[in-house]
Amino acid sequence: ADKPVDEDKQFIVMGTNAEFPPFEYIAGGEVTGFDVDIAKKIAEKLGLELKIENMQFSGLIAALQTKKIDFIAAGMTNTEERAKSVNFSQDYFEASQVIIVKKDSDAVKGKADLEGKKIGVQLGTTGEMEAKEIADATVESYDAGFAAVMDLANGKLDAVVIDQKPAEKFVSKNDKVMILEEELTKEAYAIAVNKEDDALLDTINQVIQELQESGEYDALYEKYFGE
Ligand code: ARG
Repeated sequence: ADKPVDEDKQFIVMGTNAEFPPFEYIAGGEVTGFDVDIAKKIAEKLGLELKIENMQFSGLIAALQTKKIDFIAAGMTNTEERAKSVNFSQDYFEASQVIIVKKDSDAVKGKADLEGKKIGVQLGTTGEMEAKEIADATVESYDAGFAAVMDLANGKLDAVVIDQKPAEKFVSKNDKVMILEEELTKEAYAIAVNKEDDALLDTINQVIQELQESGEYDALYEKYFGE
């Protein structure tokens, strides 16, 4: 039990939801992105092959608890509520929720204007939780964040609440929408493991620390977030 993974295992399984560029997205038929590159380092450290299970974001924690996957790397925000069900690594990315609106409408200029509005979010996310706190708002939950942004562009929503970096990618693909300056939250992403997998958690923390100390983290940051 003090080994990071079972001795007879050849691979380690990352669970993710590849609807979240640039952390995880499909390119050339493969799941790729910032989180995938970190996961490859984790697999390398363990001397195992990396397998990726791409699933609904809202199903990831249950998949971890039932050991269908070994860890979650999915731009997942480290929250107290989730920490009751999983163990989180050290934080590896500072994030925030932002509001996306249509350029040709000034109905929503900031958080205060979201009251009573129709807001699109991704199912099971902190953006969804945040939107549900807003008085009289109607919250529409989508499997994929980009689908919400498309509905916003088509006039079916008043706003979308989603993480900043994916928001920037989505907005760059649709010139009818833009991101408001006012941020809704400050949060941080961490990798989640099963509550029983302490040795794996130690290894993951070690990898994150090594990436930061060696400068590899900065190189990855530049690769995915640089201009
Ligand atoms: N950071 C948000 C959360 O933890 C959204 C993450 C969505 N990630 C994804 N791969 N779709 O709830």
